Amino acid sequence: MALLRVEGISRVYSLGKRGVEALKGISFEVEDGEFVSIMGPSGSGKSTLLNILGCLDRPTEGSYYIGDRDVARLKTGQLADLRGGVIGFVFQTFNLIPTLTARDNVEVPLLYRGIGSKQRRTMAMAVLEEVGIGHRADHLPSELSGGEQQRVAVARALVTDPELILADEPTGNLDSKSSKAIMGLFQRINAERGVTIIQVTHDPNMARYGSRTINFTDGEIIGDVPVKERVWIDDVESDTADGIATGCDPGESESVSGEGRRT
Ligand SMILES: Nc1ncnc2c1ncn2[C@@H]1O[C@H](COP(=O)(O)OP(=O)(O)O)[C@@H](O)[C@H]1O
Ligand SMILES: [Mg+2]
Repeated sequence: MALLRVEGISRVYSLGKRGVEALKGISFEVEDGEFVSIMGPSGSGKSTLLNILGCLDRPTEGSYYIGDRDVARLKTGQLADLRGGVIGFVFQTFNLIPTLTARDNVEVPLLYRGIGSKQRRTMAMAVLEEVGIGHRADHLPSELSGGEQQRVAVARALVTDPELILADEPTGNLDSKSSKAIMGLFQRINAERGVTIIQVTHDPNMARYGSRTINFTDGEIIGDVPVKERVWIDDVESDTADGIATGCDPGESESVSGEGRRT
């Protein structure tokens, strides 16, 4: 069974007398373990779709299934469980709480689960180490570079051990070096944890790290293809100089391969 299935979903925003049809009856499935990039020009409905996939919004028409669960039929509490446990979110602007340290930010999703403070601390530290930022655990977001903040946000998304990560332009505010490091992190999470990843990007270079690209225009899918020459980042720890325009060799620690590897 597919992890996600959308069937003929549309989303009409009411805006004055006329509605804006942001999604026009789209259908697709995502299998467990895919790394999908959703691409398309600004205003084409990408964020609208991601919000629906994340159960933050509902389609005007059509159906959305997560596994065998028809999202429209779920009660408020069940939706909250999905958002809090099955799905992890990563945003363009990181959305960290500025007054909390990196570790405390990562602990936030655990607060709602009645997990004791010692256990929360252990779990938060483990994912911060996993994303290569354990040494910054006691820092506030303002003391971290953009790439480091996004790592903390990825750790926060991972701490509940989700099946799916939804990322809306996760590299939109990052320089190219830290963007690649975040893509490397996604590849590792995808390969090692088996977490399904769906990211919105309008950078074709970022889409090359995924396994499949869905192209949007004007609320409709105009293309849905596997990534042919997928790029792999082998060294996830390579953004120590991020935030600084390094002009480093873009080929560094990358390898291009055909289909088949690590899939
Ligand atoms: N809350 C909203 N109310 C009214 N219109 C909206 C709202 N959110 C998005 N739209 C409109 O829906 C369309 C798709 O928007 P969006 O999903 O944000 O596109 P993208 O993420 O691809 O840039 C755009 O025309 C946008 O103006
Ligand atoms: Mg958007």
